[in-house]
Amino acid sequence: MYAKITLTAQSLPAHYLSNDDLSKIMPTNDEWITTRTGIKQRRVVTEQSTTDLCVDVALKLIQKRSFDAETLDFIIVATMTPDFQTPSVASCVQGAIGATNALAFDLNAACSGFVYALSMAEKLIRTGSKCGLVIGGETMSKLVDWQDRRTAVLFGDGAAGVLIENTATEPLFIKEILASDGTKSTALQAPSLANNSPFFKGANSTRPFIEMDGRAIFDFATRNVSKTMLELLEVTQTNVEAIDWVIAHQANARLLSAMAKKTGIRQEKFLSNIANVGNTSSASIPLVLDDYVSNGTIPLDGTHLTLLTGFGGGLTWGSMLVRL
Ligand code: ACO
Repeated sequence: MYAKITLTAQSLPAHYLSNDDLSKIMPTNDEWITTRTGIKQRRVVTEQSTTDLCVDVALKLIQKRSFDAETLDFIIVATMTPDFQTPSVASCVQGAIGATNALAFDLNAACSGFVYALSMAEKLIRTGSKCGLVIGGETMSKLVDWQDRRTAVLFGDGAAGVLIENTATEPLFIKEILASDGTKSTALQAPSLANNSPFFKGANSTRPFIEMDGRAIFDFATRNVSKTMLELLEVTQTNVEAIDWVIAHQANARLLSAMAKKTGIRQEKFLSNIANVGNTSSASIPLVLDDYVSNGTIPLDGTHLTLLTGFGGGLTWGSMLVRL
């Protein structure tokens, strides 16, 4: 039997922050944000942690099918905004839902995290696991400098995830290409952690917020990420017209258009929710997926050929061809 995504769910904080709301606390405006990014609003937590959002996703997944959490073999949470260095968010989710037989760990590949995590989950299924949860969850609001209009307008909080099971009778995960270029690691950093040991004589950095060279990431995503998407289509001998949907990391609506042009995949196949939730890092791909599963566009019957593409800090990127 082969891996299959069988359920999706999401959890968004209740508090909306519109572009007009932001313009009251920093020198920005709806017109700039909308035309440069496509974002109209985002959600931010007022009380919840990353763990709270991820536990909510896990509970919703369980409720959708009424399955026993003890049947889960693994829980992987993709996040760059965990609540602690340790325990992991995944361990906290495992404890909260009573998934006593599941291994649990977090994976940090920034906005590529969900694609990386899904790839690891598929390998676990391939080597004998029966089922598990893969969740992308972030509270980006705690990393954002709310004085910095260049980054604060971009990000939002949220979590979403999937149940993955060994129930397919044919391979649905066709192929993926995961990549990293650490020589460009300074293009996105957040936050630096101090070493307060009495033995440490080095310079301690005090940069608590996200810092991003937006232009560099935009160029990298249009060039390298689109190239990898095309490579994946080439090695799998997939014609662009055969692709039903592209679910790419929601960093910028203009970036999605640029990717459509570069790859030759029609723009209307790029599913998007960036207008409503902004850039939610590793939650963005599963949030889009859950939106389109919930509205019936993707019925999860294994017939929709979908290209999942993440990219972000590291720099990391990854594309995966999967039948949903
Ligand atoms: N409101 C109004 N003006 C602004 C704002 C704002 N929120 N932000 C910047 N500006 C101004 C700048 O100060 C600048 O003004 P100046 O010309 O007078 O100096 C002008 O707008 C242009 O700024 P740029 O930074 O050049 O704007 P650009 O067109 O490059 O858009 C953006 C910036 C939206 C960040 C874009 O580069 C982008 O989306 N990049 C990709 C980011 C990304 O993909 N991140 C994903 C990784 S995230 C992760 O891994 C967690």
